[in-house]
This record gives sequence, structure tokens and C-alpha cells, in this order.
Amino acid sequence: MFPKKKSNGAILIVDDNPTNLEVLSDTLTADGFQVAVAIDGETALEQLKYYQAELIILDIMMPGIDGFETCKRLQSNPLTCDIPVIFATALSDVSNKLTGLSLGAVDYITKPFQCEEVLARIQIQLKLRKLDKVLKEQNVLLKQEILQRQAAENLLKKLNQELEKRVYNRTIELSKTLQQLEQTQVQLVHNEKMSSLGRLVAGIAHEINNPINFIYANLHYAMEHSQNLFTLLELCQKNLTSLPSEIQHYFQEVDFEYLQEDLPKILSSMEVGSERISQIVLSLRNFSRLDEAHKKSVNIHEGIESTLLILQERLNGRADRQKIQVIRAYGELPLVECYASHLNQVFMNLLINAIDALDEQNSPPLLINKLEPPTIWIRTEISHQNWVKISISDNGSGIPTDIQSKIFDPFFTTKPVGKGTGLGLSISYQIIVEKHHGQLSCYSEIGKRTEFVINIPC
Ligand SMILES: Nc1ncnc2c1ncn2[C@@H]1O[C@H](COP(=O)(O)OP(=O)(O)OP(=O)(O)O)[C@@H](O)[C@H]1O
Ligand SMILES: [Mg+2]
Repeated sequence: MFPKKKSNGAILIVDDNPTNLEVLSDTLTADGFQVAVAIDGETALEQLKYYQAELIILDIMMPGIDGFETCKRLQSNPLTCDIPVIFATALSDVSNKLTGLSLGAVDYITKPFQCEEVLARIQIQLKLRKLDKVLKEQNVLLKQEILQRQAAENLLKKLNQELEKRVYNRTIELSKTLQQLEQTQVQLVHNEKMSSLGRLVAGIAHEINNPINFIYANLHYAMEHSQNLFTLLELCQKNLTSLPSEIQHYFQEVDFEYLQEDLPKILSSMEVGSERISQIVLSLRNFSRLDEAHKKSVNIHEGIESTLLILQERLNGRADRQKIQVIRAYGELPLVECYASHLNQVFMNLLINAIDALDEQNSPPLLINKLEPPTIWIRTEISHQNWVKISISDNGSGIPTDIQSKIFDPFFTTKPVGKGTGLGLSISYQIIVEKHHGQLSCYSEIGKRTEFVINIPC
């Protein structure tokens, strides 16, 4: 027995002509193909259920169903639709060839068969089929790979999104914590500033209050007593005919008439002075209002005036600057429910900033030569929504546009180290916006004017 040769491919020949079948079968078998034959279309279709042909050579004219019908049925069956079909026909009729090709045939051969041509065409078709198979397999693999990659990509995207979300949330959390920390820090510094300044002011006011009350209350008696003494001395002068020379001499020495005239003046100026001190003490107590931890109805103008009084020294003229004039345009305000000492702290911060800006415009490198004298305008009014509006403006150095958005940030300052902490405005903002649910805004034009507007609900 010869060893079985490896088959070049399995071919089914369908032809009703035994001679054709024999010729083709012999030729193909001799060339190493495995060959099966069928004598009509129906037998071929039946045979293909068991025989796995890799190529079909199909005659057109056959008894029963013809080659075209057989081809149609092969194409409509998923199990056979991929098997390449070569029509074999005696007809060299072009329309038959076209019909065959349009039904899904891959090629045609004409009878009588030219064996070499038939073999060549079969080999080409089988090669094409193999390539097609490989391509299809590769295509399936590629599709699988694409699906895997897509799945991996989707997973990566999802992980990335999750990561981004986590980073975003973490960043928000961190910036919130940072903001809270900054606010706590500002609050701490503010409380410390407030309580130490308040305590100092209240302490001084308290210490001065008692002695000045004592002085003020006794001045009245001092005036009365001095008047009585003068009257007594006048009576002595008038009624005693001869005064001892020593007394007469002393009357002249002290210029009794001048004393009579001057002492009441001194005492009344002392009275004016002590009234002023009492007023200052009242202002200091009004400013500090340490005792008032809760909201109270207060007169806003009193708060502003007390603050101005404390700042009086800084408003005075200096070698390099005229006295700052304060122009008031106070409207009719009702008593306002507020934390008075905190609000006074805001007036203090805004007024100090205005004074600093007026000082600054006279110092190099600004040296703004203005015709207008240094001025602070304070305006108050009730706005349409029934809010109290307090505007404090100055014609000082102004705020450059690029830093206007930063001035309310804690620790932002343009002042030299040691002069400004950069907390004044951020504290003021907290007091107005958070504590009083109001608004604090700034409008400024460099070199011209700066205005801070406080709005608080009545
Ligand atoms: N009226 C103003 N004119 C010009 N610049 C101003 C005025 N008010 C505030 N600024 C600017 O805003 C910055 C921040 O003011 P803020 O009151 O918060 O801090 P500071 O005055 O620098 O320091 P601190 O008030 O803590 O002593 C100031 O450094 C200044 O540059
Ligand atoms: Mg300040």
C-alpha cells in the first residue's frame, strides 16, 4: 500500500454527463485533490450535508434543478454559502456566465475542458479561499483584540474619571480646610486685636472716668467758693478803714483785681476741658463697648464720631501733609441693630486705610500733586431696600485695578513689613458680610479716589 498522499483540497463535481465527470475527476485526482461527484443539483445539495467540499464545480444544464438554482440554494444556506462555486458549461454564452457570476459563482470554465486551465483556476480559487479564511480568522482575532482593547480603554477611562473625581473632591476638601484655617486664623487675630484694643480702651476710659467726674463735679464748688472768697476779700477791703500794710502790699503784689478777673476764666476753661475729657471717655467707652456681646440698637453716627475722635491725632497736619479734612454728609438714620464694637472696628479699619492712603500719596515715589486738600468723605443714608448705607471715601493714592480683587484676602497688604498685617479689610468683610449679613464693596480709581461702601440691613 502506498502511503496516503496529502490532499490538495476537497472538490465536489456536479455534472449530469458521465464523461465530463470522469475527465474532471481523473484530472483532479491525479493532481492530488480529493474528489466527490454528483449527477444533479439535488444530489449535490444532499451530499454537501456530509461532505465538506472546499470548492464546487457546477454544471448549468442538468436534469431537475439546474446549476443556477443549485447555486442559489447553496448561497442561501449558511453552511454552504462560503464554498466557492465554479460554473462549468458547454455554452460560451456570455449571458450565462454573467448570470452565474451574479448568483455568487467565483469563476467559470468552458467545455471541453482544458485540463491545465481548469487546474490553474481551481488552484487560484482554493488559494483565494484559503487567504479569505485566514483573513476572516485574522479579522475575528482583530475584532476580539479591538473589543479587548476597547474594554481596557473603557476601564482605563472609568478609572481615570474616578481618579479625577477623587482628586477634584480632595482638592475641594483641602481648599475648604485651608479656607477654614485662614478664617479661623483671621478670627483669632481679630478677636485678639479686638479684645486687646477694646480692653485697653475700656481700661483707660474707666481709669480716667472716676478722677474726671471728681474734678468736674468739684469745679462747680471751686467756682462758688472762689467767688465767695473774692466777695469776702472785697468786703474786707471796703469795710476795714485801714488794712495792715503787709496785707495791702500783698493785694498789690498778687494784682487782686486781675485775680478776680482771671480765676473764674481759668476755672471755666477747666470746666470746658473736663467736659471734653468726659466726652472723650464716653467716646472711648462707646468705641470699645466691651460689655455688649449681643446685638444692640445703636446710633451709627456716634460710633463714627467716636472712631474719628480716637484717630484725631492722625488726621492732624504733618510736615509733609496738610490736615485731613473730614466732610460729613449724615442722613437721617434710625437706630441700627448691630454688634456695635465690631462695627466701630470696621470704621476704624476703613478710616486708617484712608489716612494711610492720604499719607502715601505724599511720599515718594507717588508724590501726587493734587490741588484738592487731603479729604475723607463720610456719607450715610437709608437705601431703597431699607438698608443703612455708609460710604467712606478718600482722595488718596487709590488702588491699582490688578490688586483690587485681592484686598479682601487675609494677609494681603501693600504696606511695608511691620506696618500692615493685611487683615483690616478681611476682618471688616467678615464683620459686615458674615456677622451682619450685609455687603462691603470697594470702588477705586488709581491716583484719584477710593470709596468703601458698607450696606447693612436695618
Ligand atoms: N483707602 C485705600 N486706598 C488705597 N489702598 C487701600 C485703601 N484701603 C485698602 N487699601 C489697600 O488694601 C490693602 C489691604 O488693606 P487691609 O486693611 O486689609 O490691610 P493693611 O491696611 O495693609 O494692613 P492692616 O489693616 O492689617 O494694618 C492695603 O495694603 C492697601 O494696599
Ligand atoms: Mg488696613
